[in-house]
Amino acid sequence: MIPDPLVEPPAAATPPLDAAAGPLPFHLLPDTASIGPTGGLQIGGVDVAELIGEVGTPVFIYDEEHLRRRCREAREAFGPRVAYASKAFLCKAMAALAHEEGCCIDVSTGGELAVALAAGVPAERLVMHGNNKSPDELESALAAGVGRVVVDSFDEIERLSFLSKARRARPKVWARVTPGVEAHTHEYVMTGQEDSKFGFGLASGAAALAVERLRSAGAEVVGLHAHIGSQIFALESYERALSLLVPLYLEHDLEELCIGGGLGVAYVVGEAAPSISEWAAALKQAARAAGLPGSAVLSAEPGRAIAAAAAVTCYTVGTIKELPGVRTYVAVDGGMSDNPRPVLYGSGYEAFLPRAVGSERPKVVTVVGKHCESGDVLVRDAHVPADLAVGDVLATPVTGAYGYSMASNYNQVPRPPVVFVRDGNWRVVVRRETYADLLSRDA
Ligand code: LLP
Repeated sequence: MIPDPLVEPPAAATPPLDAAAGPLPFHLLPDTASIGPTGGLQIGGVDVAELIGEVGTPVFIYDEEHLRRRCREAREAFGPRVAYASKAFLCKAMAALAHEEGCCIDVSTGGELAVALAAGVPAERLVMHGNNKSPDELESALAAGVGRVVVDSFDEIERLSFLSKARRARPKVWARVTPGVEAHTHEYVMTGQEDSKFGFGLASGAAALAVERLRSAGAEVVGLHAHIGSQIFALESYERALSLLVPLYLEHDLEELCIGGGLGVAYVVGEAAPSISEWAAALKQAARAAGLPGSAVLSAEPGRAIAAAAAVTCYTVGTIKELPGVRTYVAVDGGMSDNPRPVLYGSGYEAFLPRAVGSERPKVVTVVGKHCESGDVLVRDAHVPADLAVGDVLATPVTGAYGYSMASNYNQVPRPPVVFVRDGNWRVVVRRETYADLLSRDA
């Protein structure tokens, strides 16, 4: 019998799966991710299950090739003054890698400066940031001979002038400008608007005054810097910032203009972001349209766009609690201490099982951590395979930026190790924290 199309669906038709319930899209995984012979995830030619057998969970696994490609892409797009924003993810191995691939490194504290120097990065390749650099931090930057100091306040101009005279140093500086642009992103990571703790306001005339004061204090002002926010998809925000910054640049006879970082990345199904090259092309075009001369060095400081999709965090599922009619809680052996972004910004993530990376994910669960608060949620409505079980390794992709770098020891949970994989080999670049580490500073 022929089915009546108004009453019965054709026999072969299955209900379309919600895109989020399909397999994890590969673009959310590191560049070298692939499916191994038994369906398991491989990164950099390393079988993730085998690696975890050696190093345990939780663990941050970084695809070294992915990091290198993004650094190279940034270097090719912007030239030799492009900087990797190390706040996104920093350890000695990462600093060395970014330097080897031709990037400068943006450090925003004495601590980041110390790690980059310890990795062997020449000081000339470092850009010293910070809205409240202490005299000690400035002194360390001058003593090392950092390539650029980004000056953020009138107090700092005085401090820098005093310290430079004492050392007979003449650092190259950029004045940090807040161009008065509100980028469309989370309020906590917006930085370009007038009401900001960062930089010198443009509209108020503070930025122009800062350049003059720096010059009369004897500093070598070579450029301007602005950073309008983070996780930005709308490139128009940068175009607006450039149209405001270029006139100030021209007025002061400068050589360099750094537009900061902030390029967004896709975290979840359905999101797509411009590549670093596309971002650079849009910036160059906007800069030209705003009248920036061809001789100017236009640079940027991407952090997230280099590191975020390079890593996955792997956890072990310890308990599954089904609350009928309410939700299913899947608790893992990490949580807000290794990824505070969901709690801080309400950020979304995907979840998947490395043993079945190509599987459909029809079941909706809430992935939580092991910390003593209800807010300790990693993924509120995670799609996972139906056979998810206690003991499984569960992973969250796109955790390479602002995860490890913002990790804490809340509840005295030791921080996970960082492992780099490449060409079939892996190496621990930061070891797992121990209880002895937790006690090491107790008097
Ligand atoms: N340059 C400056 C001066 C910055 O302040 C930042 C980030 C960057 C560059 C790099 O921005 P990116 O390309 O990574 O977006 N914890 C937040 C992000 C804070 C960003 C702070 N500044 C998060 O997890 O989303």
